[in-house]
Amino acid sequence: MRKPLIAGNWKLHKTLSESRALATDLASCLRNFAAADVVVAPVYTALATVAEALAGTPVKLAAQNCYPEETGAFTGEVSPLLLKDAGCAYVIIGHSERRQLLEESDHFINRKLIKALETGLKPILCIGETLQERESDQMLEVLTAQIKGGLANLSATHMAEVVIAYEPVWAIGTGKTATDEQAQEAHSFIRGLLQGLFTPEVAAATRMLDGGSVKPNNIYGLMAMDDIDGALVGGASLKAEDFLRIARFES
Ligand code: 13P
Repeated sequence: MRKPLIAGNWKLHKTLSESRALATDLASCLRNFAAADVVVAPVYTALATVAEALAGTPVKLAAQNCYPEETGAFTGEVSPLLLKDAGCAYVIIGHSERRQLLEESDHFINRKLIKALETGLKPILCIGETLQERESDQMLEVLTAQIKGGLANLSATHMAEVVIAYEPVWAIGTGKTATDEQAQEAHSFIRGLLQGLFTPEVAAATRMLDGGSVKPNNIYGLMAMDDIDGALVGGASLKAEDFLRIARFES
């Protein structure tokens, strides 16, 4: 019932020509691909170029962030409206790098999420605990606060468009991966939270991605878990060959 989704977060990587080349490779290999929804998130400056390269293919475009206002005196920011205009269908919101480096709060993340939904973009809400939080038994508390804060004031109709990405901070870019069972345990806990906040139907329909050092060699095991519906991939999304293997769940 939940279609798998594999998203590549290119972070602060790739020039225009490199972005175009990677998108063109993916576009040609995934032209008729239907086993999973595939999404890529380049830097802002490459969005329109990548949109052009992906046109006519099922691969969708995402931005890595947005600002919760449409237009106005917000120097340096980009709104969901402009992201849509550039060809985006999705937007990543609340990535742990932004929470840590830019001190983004759950409240600010919630405002972005609501604005993105009002504009017709599908938000990918990122949550996840740090190593210190996990080791001091605060993981469930942290995930609960991030889910409740991030999804505050959302209707069940809006929830149908939201994707959740569970990315334990200690697994991001470290090569350390959560075991399939650790990931499943967190995903199942998050789905339980959604059930309490919304309805069992909403919880059962919400797509949840796993993230943090997802590679071709661990995607298969993760996808076999009941509550994992896909992956948010960083490093391994920068090479077409690796990302394609992940999209096809090939180890
Ligand atoms: P890595 O796959 O490089 O660990 O990054 C994960 C991530 O942060 C995706 O958003």
